[in-house]
Amino acid sequence: MEIFETKKTLQDYLERQREMGKKIGFAPTMGALHKGHLSLYEAARKENDLTVSSIFVNPTQFNNVSDLEKYPRDINRDLYFLDESGLVDAVYGPQVAELYPEKLQSKSYDFGGLETAMEGKFRPGHFDGVGTVVEELLSQVKPDNAYFGEKDYQQLAIIRKMSNQLNLPVKIHGVKIYREENGLAMSSRNERLSSGQRDAAKIIHETLVKVNDWFKIITVPEIYQRVKDIFEDQPGMVMEYFEIADEETLQETDFFYKGHDYRAFLVVFVGEVRLIDNMHLD
Ligand code: PAF
Repeated sequence: MEIFETKKTLQDYLERQREMGKKIGFAPTMGALHKGHLSLYEAARKENDLTVSSIFVNPTQFNNVSDLEKYPRDINRDLYFLDESGLVDAVYGPQVAELYPEKLQSKSYDFGGLETAMEGKFRPGHFDGVGTVVEELLSQVKPDNAYFGEKDYQQLAIIRKMSNQLNLPVKIHGVKIYREENGLAMSSRNERLSSGQRDAAKIIHETLVKVNDWFKIITVPEIYQRVKDIFEDQPGMVMEYFEIADEETLQETDFFYKGHDYRAFLVVFVGEVRLIDNMHLD
């Protein structure tokens, strides 16, 4: 596995690979790697000749300093994990100045309302930070295909939109949520849960499965009420939000219109840990 810290060395390497006709798949990450990330690399390997990943904790997408400071960083562990997986050919682990040569600042984007829905209400500026770093990473790596997890579904929708708006020569792929055995969506934050909390947190996925059943038989307000009731009865958990939204516009709906696809989004604090999950309704 090749490791690069600078844009220049990475680009020289990728240029040689491209000259050999290799198709490049790219999965950016913020490290703290887990099995969920492996599903991104597996998807990339299927469709490309070379799989590249990046590890960069992007300061501009954190809306508070303590979150950024607390973010787990262990580059040696991550590199070991990637090497062991045998799924990644090259890793880019740049310092801030490689991605933000002038100023550590986000650009400001208009994603047509995608950025103000759901997470946008609770994390102002977050998606400007994501857009800025992903745009820069894509312009440095120039992959044929790029892979993002559906767990951050809103992020995926925004990156798709940005790629279309800017006409980026890359295909954006969403990869299905990788779940722990009890259904909990895989996340580096799960490590911060006690074993009791980790077990109890399966209620998040179980609730989404129920929502998918209710979707066919009761109204949207009735579903909201039932979800609210479930979490009011969960000790140590606080629901931050539940929304059913149009899968394309991410706007909340109060009615299911024919010809539209919908997705349920659920965010719950389990103790101090904020867990997010979502599910396509079918
Ligand atoms: O999903 C993430 O890990 C990050 O938001 C990303 C896409 C790597 C941008 O920093």
